Formats: sequence, structure tokens, C-alpha cells
Amino acid sequence: MSKVLDRPSHSLREFRILPGYTPPDGNALNVDLTTRLCRSGDGFLRLHTPFLSAAMQAVTGTEMAIAIAQLGGIGILPVSQTIEEQSEKIGRVKRFKAGFQTSITTLSPRQTIADVIRIMEETGYSTFPVTDTGEFHARLLGVITDKDFDVRRDHALTVEERMRTDVQYGVDISDLKEANQLMIKFGRGFLPIVDAGGILQTAVFKKDLDKHLQHPNESIDAQKRLLVGAAVSTHPEDRERVQCLVEHEVDVIVVDASDGHTHYQRQMVEWIKSTCGVPVVAGNVVTSRGFEFLAETGADAVKVGMGIASGCTTQEVKATGRGQGSALLGVCPARDRHADATGEYLPLIADGGMAGPAEMSVALALGADALMLGNFFARYTESAGNLMRNAAGEIVKEYWMEGSAKARNHRRYAQLKDLFFEEGITGYVPHLGSIFEKLPLVMQILRSTLATAGCRTMDELHEKAVLEMQSPSALRDSDVHDMVPSNFEQQIL
Ligand code: IMP
Repeated sequence: MSKVLDRPSHSLREFRILPGYTPPDGNALNVDLTTRLCRSGDGFLRLHTPFLSAAMQAVTGTEMAIAIAQLGGIGILPVSQTIEEQSEKIGRVKRFKAGFQTSITTLSPRQTIADVIRIMEETGYSTFPVTDTGEFHARLLGVITDKDFDVRRDHALTVEERMRTDVQYGVDISDLKEANQLMIKFGRGFLPIVDAGGILQTAVFKKDLDKHLQHPNESIDAQKRLLVGAAVSTHPEDRERVQCLVEHEVDVIVVDASDGHTHYQRQMVEWIKSTCGVPVVAGNVVTSRGFEFLAETGADAVKVGMGIASGCTTQEVKATGRGQGSALLGVCPARDRHADATGEYLPLIADGGMAGPAEMSVALALGADALMLGNFFARYTESAGNLMRNAAGEIVKEYWMEGSAKARNHRRYAQLKDLFFEEGITGYVPHLGSIFEKLPLVMQILRSTLATAGCRTMDELHEKAVLEMQSPSALRDSDVHDMVPSNFEQQIL
């Protein structure tokens, strides 16, 4: 390899996709974004939409993991939290399963209405089952809602005095359609489900069910529970974490390191592969050699990207990294050569540096199978960062990088606690509302790009898409130019 490569590094923004022939049935409505996330067993774990929410404190908590899985992608819970917290979140996502709730707040008949009012304020919920012990898996006695008492007068009364005992419930129901039919028959928005002995097992809320019915592309496992992934570091102490995550039925483990071309990464990936059956995503790499190295470890997918994330300072402080366009141009052909030589296809996940659907499309057209996004998802209500007002009075979401002083995720960056230096900043991003409202539009834009490129599937995009680099003036033409938009509030996706 020469000392200095003869081509400059290219960003995703420099590429454009050439149009291909679109047949009569090739419009966006007929484009399928289903993709391979990673190898799993003899086949692949597939997603209906190519999105992973980043393994970052500010991005993926339970709410984001549930939302993104409902929308056909998958959330990766970050490693920078305790094993217990991370495992507990996996449990919450798995239990969310398609409308059945198994961890809702339950009341005891002896609690006071004052308690109920406080719990309602704290949780934002308005309907609670009442059981004999107040625990969830106990005998169902009744239901109390905010309509069953007077907030001003009834403070001193007990739940028992105000709850409804004529509760309509289901017995041993595990099929969502059956639960739905019963709710329609009873004309209620809430259905507790008990076992033959009257012990509360689960509950279904109509609003969850409606949401589920709106999302036919959910990412689900064989038992119809939402998929969720979790990150671990390469450090041997995280072997205990891996075991705990697997016990909590995590669907995929991401070995999270800013540089995956290391001895430590190999040790961790090989150990997981030899110990547990769970699929492993390795990374990050940006060169064909890095890819080949990870392919040899037995990894089930490889993540690509270094130094290009939105708040990343790695290139500034360490001078390491590569434009994401060049990284994919280096790694994707290595993946294809590996597939030709071994018959094994290793999915690639482009990680970081994609601000909107244009860069996402370019990454996919260059050969990525899926996309990991931090900044992009941090903007939605469901992200784990706080909603706040910035100095200009705008409503924004907090976003901080894993290599920032705030996150102090030393192990991702192989840093020493005492000599820590930042590889990312802390800041905020605009708040765009709910992911449920906004992501469908982004998906439609991606479908539309595929249709214009003459492709109906991701495989066709990989095979047929032709990209072209833009000269500086072609890039200028590709932006709005020579006119001033009348609407200054540009829509930010
Ligand atoms: P973004 O979508 O451009 O914000 O990039 C998100 C990705 O940035 C994550 O998935 C990580 O791979 C990467 N990342 C997270 N924290 C840092 C950091 O502190 N420095 C550099 N890269 C980071």
C-alpha cells in the first residue's frame, strides 16, 4: 500500500445516483425497503426498513427502541449504562410485544384516592387494574380510572370504595386479534387478561393495538415480540454483560468500538461467537483490510464509519478517519469479494454522518445494507435526550456524543480514565416531533429514490445503481441556486 493514497477521501454528499429505467410497476409504491441486518442461524435477520438507532445515551432508550422497531428498524441500547439498566430496557422492549402489556402499574384496594391522583400525575396514565396485593401478577379485583372519583372531594377514600368491580376481562388470550375482538364486543379501551385462576397476566390497551395495526412492518421475533439490540465494549469485563443481555433475550449484540480493526475486537467477537448463539455486529472499520479482518472473526455483520459523525472530533484531534463515501467504496467491494469466495454474504451497516435521506440513499446505493443514525433520530420526541429550550428560545433535543465528557464512554474509544480527551461534543439538535409522524416520509423518499434509479429492492439497488461524483460546480447546481426561497423556514427532515 502506498504511503499516501492517490485519491482524496469522499463524503456521501459528493455522490449522486443516476436515474435508471422505471417500468410501469416500478413506482415508489412498489418499492420494498426490506434488508439484511446481519446473519442469523442459516439465514439473515431482516428488517423492513434499513434503520438502526445509534447505540448512544442521547438516542436509544426504551421509547426509541420500541418506536423504531414498530417502524420496521431496530434500536441498539448503548453500553454506557449499567448491565442492569441495559438488561431491564431489553425486557421492557420484549414485553411491549405487539400491544400486550406485562408491566403496567397496578394498585392495591387499600391505597387512597390521593395516592391514585399522585400516581396518575407521575405516570401520565389514567387506567389501572386493581389486584389483591397491588402486584401485577395477583388476583384481579377491579379497575379504577380517572372517571371513577372526584379529584376535589374523594382524597381520603380508598381505591376499594371507588373502583369498578364489574370488569370485563379475557381469559388466557395470547392472540392479539382475539383480544381486539373482545374489546370491540365490550366497547372498552382496556382489556385485562387473567389466567384460569383469575390471576392477572397481561393487559391490552386499544391505543396500543391501533398503533400496532398501523405498523404492519414491525420488526418482530418468532414469538412476535419487538426486536432489540444492545452494545457491549471489547473489554473482557463486558463478557458478564453479554451473558446478561443474552439471558434477557437480546436479538443482536453490537461490539461497539470506534476502531474495530483491533486485537480486542477480535477477542470479543470470537468469544461471543463461541459462547452464545446471538448474532454479532462488529466494527467500526473503514478499509477493505479492516473488513477482511472482521469477516475472519466470524462476525455476522460489519459496521462502517470513522470520524464522520455529526458531533465527532476524532479527525480533528487524532487525524484518523475517512470520508464515509470512500469508506463504503473501500469496504463494499471487499464484502462482495468475500461473498464470491466463501458464499457468505456479510451485511454492512453505514454508521454516522447521514443528515438526511439523500446521504442515506447514497450509502445504500454504494452497497450498505442498513444505516445507523444518531443525530437524525435524536431529533425525534422518542429519543432519550431531554427536550429543552435553547438560548434563542427554540425547542430542541439534547444530543451528546459517546466520546464527549458528558458521556465518558472510555471503553468505546480505548481511552484511559485519567488521561481522557474528548472525541465528540455535547450540544443539541432541532426537535422535529414524533418519529411516527416523520419517519414514514423519509421512507417514502428512499422508496422514491430507488424507483428513480430503476430498482424495486435493496438487492437491485446494490446491483444496478450507478453513482457519479459531483464536481464543485455540479454540486452547486444540485443545491438551490440563483434564487431566494420565499419560505425561509426550510423543512428539515
Ligand atoms: P451521527 O448520526 O452522524 O450523529 O453519528 C452517530 C454515530 O457516531 C454513532 O453511531 C457512533 O458510531 C458515532 N459516535 C458516537 N459518539 C461519537 C464520538 O464521540 N465521536 C465520534 N463518533 C461518535
